[in-house]
This record gives sequence, structure tokens and C-alpha cells, in this order.
Amino acid sequence: MREFLIAPSLLSADFARLADEIRDVTAAGADWIHLDVMDNHYVPNLTFGPLLCSAIRPYSALPFDVHLMTAPVDPLVSAFAQAGANLISFHPEATRHVHRTIELIRSHGVRAGLALNPATPLVALDHVIEMLDVVLVMSVNPGFGGQAFIPHTLDKLRRLRVRVDATMQRTGRPLPIEVDGGVKASNIAAIAQAGADVFVAGSAVFGASDRARAIGGMRDELASVHDPLSVAASK
Ligand code: DX5
Ligand code: ZN
Repeated sequence: MREFLIAPSLLSADFARLADEIRDVTAAGADWIHLDVMDNHYVPNLTFGPLLCSAIRPYSALPFDVHLMTAPVDPLVSAFAQAGANLISFHPEATRHVHRTIELIRSHGVRAGLALNPATPLVALDHVIEMLDVVLVMSVNPGFGGQAFIPHTLDKLRRLRVRVDATMQRTGRPLPIEVDGGVKASNIAAIAQAGADVFVAGSAVFGASDRARAIGGMRDELASVHDPLSVAASK
């Protein structure tokens, strides 16, 4: 069975009470904490940097999943590694040398993810997929929380699932597919069925007054999802 993980995005948290918000979603059953780093250059919005990441690091033992929406990428990698990032994802358009940036992230003992925008084709994974620890599929254009899930992402996920399965067979390493943008209880099962393993959810979790109920509702939906791998194997 594939393991499904839920990663609440702090972008929709109450920034005046971040420590409490992190403790709350940790107790509510989150698997990863997703941190959206925006620079008002690669994306129009502006959020926070490594100083804040390091300040909130003590409030949860969960993996910190840092999503860099910055250009350039490389100058921030070391600071986020020191600030407690367990995974750093970046966009191929935001760095000059994708292969070098992946090596840089991994050289700090941090897992590396490549983030693909809605219009970025899967060929961006050519020649680097075997180095990656995560593929992050954007199901909205990066920059803001609370946007609607872009439906063609499902087709992209189905095609990526085949490719990732073949890659994992070759390398023997896990390579989860993470989806980011517009994920909620009403569409999470379809997104999982299309091939995703990790679900970023900002407004759907932090917008709810009862976060355990929000996360629990997503897990209930995921429980009904058939594993495409075992379905294929049983045929
Ligand atoms: C968008 C961010 C997302 C965002 C998701 O640029 O990468 O992580 O916070 O928010 P929701 O779940 O509200 O779409
Ligand atoms: Zn994100």
C-alpha cells in the first residue's frame, strides 16, 4: 500500500500565533509541516526566510518541508539547512543549474524536491529524477493560498505516477509525489487516485477551526482510495 501524508501549509496559519498554530496541527495529526518561502521576485508574494524557520523549529518534531519560491535558490540552501529544513523543494525556472542545486541541497544532508508549475512539463525531470527525494506538482500557480485546484493536474499526475514507479524500481529509493494547491477533503481522493502520495493543504487545514477534524476528514477520504499499484498487480 502507498502511504499517504498530509502536510499543512503555514501560509494560511495565523502569523501572529505561529508557535501555537504549529503545535496545534502537530497534535491534530499532520505528517509534515509545509513552509512556503516567497520572495516577491520569483512569485508576487513575500513571506519569510530562514530566521523564522529556525524560530519555529522547536515547536514540532515533524519534518519541515520547505518550498522555495525564490530566485535564485542556491544562496538560501545552507541557511535553511541550518534552520532545520528536512526537505527543500525549488522550481527549475528559478535556478541556473538544476543539477547543481539538487547536489547542493543533498550535500547538506537535506532531501531535495523539484517543484513543477502547472505549465512546466514533466520533461523538466529528465536527467535529474533519480537524484530527487520528492517531486512536487503544483496544482495552482505559486504565490498565494486559497486558489482553486487546476483540473488538468490529474492527467499530469497519472503520467508522472507511471514514471515515478519505474524510477523507484530502478533506484530502489522512495520518491513520493507531493501535490500543492487547492487540496481539500472533496478532491483529495481523486488526487490520490491519480497518483499523489503527499498532500499540501493550507486553507483547508488552517481555515478550519478544528484542525484534527479537517485532517481526519481528509484521511477518511483517503481510506477509500484504491492503490493503483496493487490494482495493477492483481490484474
Ligand atoms: C502556493 C503555495 C501553497 C499554498 C497552498 O504558492 O505553494 O503551499 O499555501 O494553499 P491552499 O491549500 O490554500 O491552496
Ligand atoms: Zn507550497
